[in-house]
Amino acid sequence: MRVAARPRWTLRRRLVVVVVALVAVVAAAMGTLSTLALSTSLTTQLDEKLTAAHRRTVDAPTVGSRVSGEAFGPAPQPAGPYRPGQDAGTVTVEQPAGTDPADLTIDQAYYIADDGTPTALDDAQVSQLLAVPTDGEPVALTLSGLGGHRAIASMTPDGGTAVTALPTTSVTSTLTSFVAVEVVVAALALLVAAAAGMVLVRRELRPLDRVVGTANRVARLPLDRGEVVLADRVPAQDTDPATEVGQVGAALNELLGHVEQALGARQESESQVRQFVADASHELRTPLASIRGYAELVRRSPDEVPASALHAMARVESESQRMTVLLEDMLLLARLDAGRPLVSEPVDLTVLAIDAVADAHAAGPDHDWRLDLSPQDAVVVGDDHRLRQVLANLLSNARLHTPAGTAVTVRVRRTGDRIVLQVTDDGPGIPPALRESLFQRFTRGDASRNSATGSTGLGLAIVHAVVTAHGGTITVSSGPGTTFTVTLPAAT
Ligand SMILES: Nc1ncnc2c1ncn2[C@@H]1O[C@H](COP(=O)(O)OP(=O)(O)O)[C@@H](O)[C@H]1O
Ligand SMILES: [Mg+2]
Repeated sequence: MRVAARPRWTLRRRLVVVVVALVAVVAAAMGTLSTLALSTSLTTQLDEKLTAAHRRTVDAPTVGSRVSGEAFGPAPQPAGPYRPGQDAGTVTVEQPAGTDPADLTIDQAYYIADDGTPTALDDAQVSQLLAVPTDGEPVALTLSGLGGHRAIASMTPDGGTAVTALPTTSVTSTLTSFVAVEVVVAALALLVAAAAGMVLVRRELRPLDRVVGTANRVARLPLDRGEVVLADRVPAQDTDPATEVGQVGAALNELLGHVEQALGARQESESQVRQFVADASHELRTPLASIRGYAELVRRSPDEVPASALHAMARVESESQRMTVLLEDMLLLARLDAGRPLVSEPVDLTVLAIDAVADAHAAGPDHDWRLDLSPQDAVVVGDDHRLRQVLANLLSNARLHTPAGTAVTVRVRRTGDRIVLQVTDDGPGIPPALRESLFQRFTRGDASRNSATGSTGLGLAIVHAVVTAHGGTITVSSGPGTTFTVTLPAAT
């Protein structure tokens, strides 16, 4: 068997093998025991026959009267046993006291051949037979040239020795066919056990497959973000606590229930935080607008306030300007986080790129703005306003974080069913310390929070959120020079 060869077996295979092995052991034990019992009982029967035959020999009249067999009955038996009742195969030796074994006649040492004729024994056989202890107990004996026998010997009343033997061929052949039948039956039993074992084990383990199926389906769910619906459960029929598989199924269901609860709670608190950020941003807009308005008012009537206050008011105005941008960005991110559905309309990225470059040119005339468009159409389905914001953020980065004179190229291409939008500049590149967390909120190179650049650190976070919400991806490569690559699914 190839049991040991395989390091890992399925439970199914192991169970079937164990069942078959058990049946094999039981069959072997039963076969051995019943063969032994049969052998003993056949030998006992043979010994009874042998004892009877021996008694007939000892009790019968001796030499002289046997030649024709007439003395034993009216009907002569020309081809029958030498003595009545003597079967073919019976071996007889009668040694009168004092006679040399070599001098025994055919009347005194013979066996009955299969055709019933008495046949002389040779000297070797005679001496084997005479060696049998004369205690009247049957013993096993293999006669040279005649095979296995049971033999019995005793002293005759006149001091001689009488030996009778019977062949064990009948016992052997009965045992042989018995063993053959047993082997065939055992083989059939093994086959049946293997087949039935396979079917039963498969059927019994099917509930386990269903439990595994549920676990696998749940494992494939994206549990780490967004609204999670964890409705999948192990079917009720596989949660019977009376069975082992049922216990596993019930435990899994309980686990799923807890996980669903925990995810729900997490979701709840997350959306509360988001809602709070959105509400706070929204609420702050109005007072901020007032602050801006009053600051502007003061600036427009410069004669009524001292110069120092005027300067302070200018700062208030610019800071509130920056804060407005920050609030708008936070509000937008909070909305994107909430996963609100986007507007879905065909948007031509070529048009967007042209507009964005025109705007960037107006805002930063010192940079060298370039467009690289392809004649293929570059239409995606999405939110025009948000996608414009993606381009505006990328281009404002290229303008604000690179020195004057930097060349910035906006490239739009279609590759297969995707539209690829690239913004490349040959500026100084992104500081290595920033690259890991570039798309995270409040990641920015200008740590001084100086208002000069209007840097909030939210620009790329918004780009990432918008692109992801459109089912796209964004990557960045930066050595010297920086390339942002946005890939969006093309409209079909
Ligand atoms: N094209 C670029 N070249 C060099 N640095 C860049 C470029 N784009 C972005 N960065 C760096 O990445 C940081 C994060 O950008 P962003 O999220 O848009 O925030 P912000 O522009 O408000 O600082 C920037 O502060 C800047 O240091
Ligand atoms: Mg930016």
